[in-house]
Amino acid sequence: MEIRKVGVVGCGLMGGGIAQTSAQSGFETVVREVSQELLDKGLARIERLLAKDVSKGKLTAEAKDATLSRLKPTTSLEAFADCHVIVEAIIENLDAKRELYSALDTLCPPETIFASNTSSLTIIEMAAVTKRSDRFAGMHFFNPVPVMKLVEVVRSIVTSDATIATLKEFGAALGKTVVEAKDTPGFIVNRLLVPYLLDAVRVLEQGTASREDIDQGMQLGCGHPMGPLTLLDFVGLDTTYYIAEIMFEEFKEPRFAPPPLLKRMVLAGHYGRKTGKGFYDY
Ligand code: CAA
Repeated sequence: MEIRKVGVVGCGLMGGGIAQTSAQSGFETVVREVSQELLDKGLARIERLLAKDVSKGKLTAEAKDATLSRLKPTTSLEAFADCHVIVEAIIENLDAKRELYSALDTLCPPETIFASNTSSLTIIEMAAVTKRSDRFAGMHFFNPVPVMKLVEVVRSIVTSDATIATLKEFGAALGKTVVEAKDTPGFIVNRLLVPYLLDAVRVLEQGTASREDIDQGMQLGCGHPMGPLTLLDFVGLDTTYYIAEIMFEEFKEPRFAPPPLLKRMVLAGHYGRKTGKGFYDY
């Protein structure tokens, strides 16, 4: 199927990034938030990022305007009715996602493909509320979406080959390299990344080294763009804790269990950059 019109549900950090990338790649893109306030906030962030690219000479003012004109902001679901693919990036809550997919399933023609940007939930558990579980997959982007070159396309046990092929083509059209993973917790990247991040917290907790030395060690010793504690602040301690809990629940392996310090920081509301305090202050 040829994708021309894209729907993005959610205009937060991930949804906004996906919508921006989609519009910038030439797709007419409907983007929806639950309230006008959240929609305005998400759109303002996209405009700010595009304006920054213009000031750096990476984007022309015309290309910025053309990108913004391809974005169709909305607070209603009806605007998704003629989209060829819908990427969902709402809150990581199974009930909320199932309710959304159930409504979209009624609204959209049977050929529309649904793709969830979930990083922790099981794809089939969401697909099962629709009558199109063969046209349902995961499409997991990385933060910041406009910059990170990867997307994981996730195949549930019933996703069709045609759906996977279409999403791979769509991912490539967004300028991303696509890797395919099975519908298991963490897919490829978080399956490897989360135990590493949890270990960094354990190393700090055990007093092996200071936060700065842990981060410098991995940044300079392994060429990572950010050290693990800085990355935890960037991803969000709450998000990482939540993903780790789900992975531990599924695999029952201690390496996925959130360390006590992480739990206590989450309980204290120290989520990282988004709250101004994590392993570092912002
Ligand atoms: N949105 C858009 N663009 C952004 C951005 C954002 N939020 N943040 C930075 N950028 C752009 C900058 O404009 C800059 O562009 P130019 O090089 O063209 O000028 C470029 O990214 C580099 O930015 P900076 O020079 O400001 O800073 P940096 O070199 O430290 O790079 C970074 C910033 C790209 C975030 C880099 O530090 C990095 O790659 N960090 C690791 C990020 C990562 O691992 N993300 C995955 C997290 S895991 C995940 O997302 C999955 C999950 O399910 C939890």
